[in-house]
Amino acid sequence: MADKHAGPPPGLHLYTRDGFLGKMAVAIRPYEVYEYTSVTGPHAPHQVALDRVACADASDAAALPTVVATSRNGVTLSVSRRTQPTPFLFRNTEADEVHFVQEGTFRYVTDFGTLEAGPGDFVWLGRTITYDVHPTGDAGLRIIVETPEMLDLNPPAPFGMVNFGRDVKRPAVTPPAEDGPRELWLKSFDGITRFTTVHDPVATKVIVDGTPPAWSLNLAAIATLSYAHGGPPAQFLQTPSTDLMFYTLSSRPPEGRPPQHHNADYDELIFYVEGPGAYGAIHEPARLAWVPKGVTHWGPEEHVPEGYLAWLLESRGTMRLTEAGAAAAVLMETGSFGPQAS
Ligand SMILES: [Fe+2]
Repeated sequence: MADKHAGPPPGLHLYTRDGFLGKMAVAIRPYEVYEYTSVTGPHAPHQVALDRVACADASDAAALPTVVATSRNGVTLSVSRRTQPTPFLFRNTEADEVHFVQEGTFRYVTDFGTLEAGPGDFVWLGRTITYDVHPTGDAGLRIIVETPEMLDLNPPAPFGMVNFGRDVKRPAVTPPAEDGPRELWLKSFDGITRFTTVHDPVATKVIVDGTPPAWSLNLAAIATLSYAHGGPPAQFLQTPSTDLMFYTLSSRPPEGRPPQHHNADYDELIFYVEGPGAYGAIHEPARLAWVPKGVTHWGPEEHVPEGYLAWLLESRGTMRLTEAGAAAAVLMETGSFGPQAS
């Protein structure tokens, strides 16, 4: 016998403010209202094949990650295919960074120690930390989010969703490389400023106080959150103004699709990482489903027995694809997040 609580009744339509945290209204309509037959203009849902982005740093070690989308609040989303170590040290003077490792393994050497990262890891690098990146495997694909605000781990409770003691890795101090001058790039809103240093600025003897402004955390280690009969996920990472909120959106109980949704204040960016299970029409790794705010959608079933890994980025600032992002994007239908039939 079907569970009367499994999923919404036909035509259910949820309107929410402040993502999933604010006031809401629910209507039952005589039919579903998420479908469309044509769309023109910039505010249209797209699926982006992040592994098909033409990345400058795939062949040029001195190139920066390729920007695929930007927001009105100064957030950028980039993709990197770096295969060689960065030939410079890097400081982002106006943004915190989160790097999601989709493929490959990397060593981040920072001025507070060394972090090793692999598939499924989020790596947070606080504003103006100094670092370089060394690929330690063959292929590499990283998704990089930059925000002018400070990102902080802030799950609903200090334990439960994230096991901080076990899963949040901090840099480890390692013996410094041979000293010598380094090229140091500082990124600001208007470009790169290049210094040549006298000594190696990341050489570290010991951390004597405080908490290094970097960590790594694997997506699979972040517990999904759900209520007995459905309900929204909860963020584990956010900025103080909640301009950005990060969630795991990996497969989770209970059965039944979420209601049709109309997100008044946030663009939804869903990053499908890998299966084996599909998320709606998405089954290829490294796919981004972007639903701009105010575009009605009906999210696919999330209770997929085979399981899949995915994460959600909510952005209060309206996003737009760059030329490089649009070149890897197709118009998306908003029921199973596959390509829109033309
Ligand atoms: Fe939604």
